[in-house]
Amino acid sequence: MKTAASQTQFWLRAGGALRGEARVPGDKSISHRAVMLAALAKGRSQIQGWLAAGDTEATLGAMQGLGAQIERLDANTLLIDGGALQKPLQPLDLKNAGTGIRLLAGLLAGQPFASVLDGSAQLRRRPMKRITAPLQLMGAAIQATDGCCPLQITPAQLQGITYDMPMASAQVKSAILLAGLNADSPTTVIQPGPARDHTERMLRSMGARLDEKGNKLTIHPGSELSPLDIQVPGDVSSAAFLLVAGLLAPGSQLTIRGVNLNPTRTGLLDALDEMGADTSLTNLGDQAGEPIGDIVVRHSALTGIQIGGETVVRMIDEFPILMVAALHAEGETIVRDARELRVKETDRIAVMAAELRKLGAVIEEREDGFRIVGPQALSGGQVDGHDDHRIAMSLAVAGLASAEGAVVTDAACAGDSFPGFAATLQRLGARLVVA
Ligand code: S3P
Repeated sequence: MKTAASQTQFWLRAGGALRGEARVPGDKSISHRAVMLAALAKGRSQIQGWLAAGDTEATLGAMQGLGAQIERLDANTLLIDGGALQKPLQPLDLKNAGTGIRLLAGLLAGQPFASVLDGSAQLRRRPMKRITAPLQLMGAAIQATDGCCPLQITPAQLQGITYDMPMASAQVKSAILLAGLNADSPTTVIQPGPARDHTERMLRSMGARLDEKGNKLTIHPGSELSPLDIQVPGDVSSAAFLLVAGLLAPGSQLTIRGVNLNPTRTGLLDALDEMGADTSLTNLGDQAGEPIGDIVVRHSALTGIQIGGETVVRMIDEFPILMVAALHAEGETIVRDARELRVKETDRIAVMAAELRKLGAVIEEREDGFRIVGPQALSGGQVDGHDDHRIAMSLAVAGLASAEGAVVTDAACAGDSFPGFAATLQRLGARLVVA
């Protein structure tokens, strides 16, 4: 049976130019890490601009289940008194949060107590061997259930290892680095390519000893972590939806303020630039050890491009919205090397292709990506968000650019990463109703 929340719908119509200024909620990746690492630090951390959304609230709940002392001054401001974690009284429920469960598995693997990590039916379908395999090499007593969660962890002394990562994944890298904090000797991960580096930045800012030589990262156990005092920058992965909506709606000009512009995350900006998007960056600065700035975007005619290799990892969460942009671009867009999309919250290649076809799109699905020849005028219709936030929000943007309008069902999941998504678009002028 569907719950009331999963029955939330977005109704969308073309015609509203997006104009004005917006801010997006705090970065999801940084918010997960901040609440975990602050709980380990010696002393009181203050985290402002924290993302209060489905995924990160699940991580916060899990940390409370581990005895972390967290005071909320308001939804987005946390005071955390770090210290030793405690044995949880029941399985920790990470809901839909892949980052939450994988990083926490690393953190808990070397703790002196047993724990069980679990999540939603959706999370229970996602692969966990990518983290259990290296953690077991470190000596962790961690067992998955048919390669997925629930994960059972029992106490074990971890040894440092050198691990050649089979995939460029920040979640895998971070799980190993966090486990390495509790190992008996240094741990080295060898990265096949750059993946988001928020864990490294945050650990270093807290005084952890972390060396980087080329593609090798070495964490040295034993440093005491000092507390955090940060303002989390806006999430570029949330800004992506406003950005593409603005590019596609004639007459649009908008500014998205205070967005994280960490180069391991800005692949979409580079791709859109190559497609001919009129975007610019202003007010560049630093916040929470991350580069930030404002993104200015104007309605633009786009052309198709080819994307593959390292750019893919730098925009891994942005392919659903890139598909929408590609449908409106002149010529061919081809994406390769993006097989990872098939094991995200959903199989994002198959699900986006199937849903966009309901709006009249023609998309060639490939094993590791897709091919789209545009421009294609989307007719309109009813599509489903599949309990995957980035699918629901991408389809909403597709609906805003469709001839007859669209309804997105199962849209409440947008709140897993972007609470206020609909209200922000409405304020900017989009013709969107939440039903
Ligand atoms: C994330 C890493 C990425 C990304 C996810 C968030 C993180 O996953 O898709 O949304 O915060 O570390 P992978 O590490 O599996 O590539």
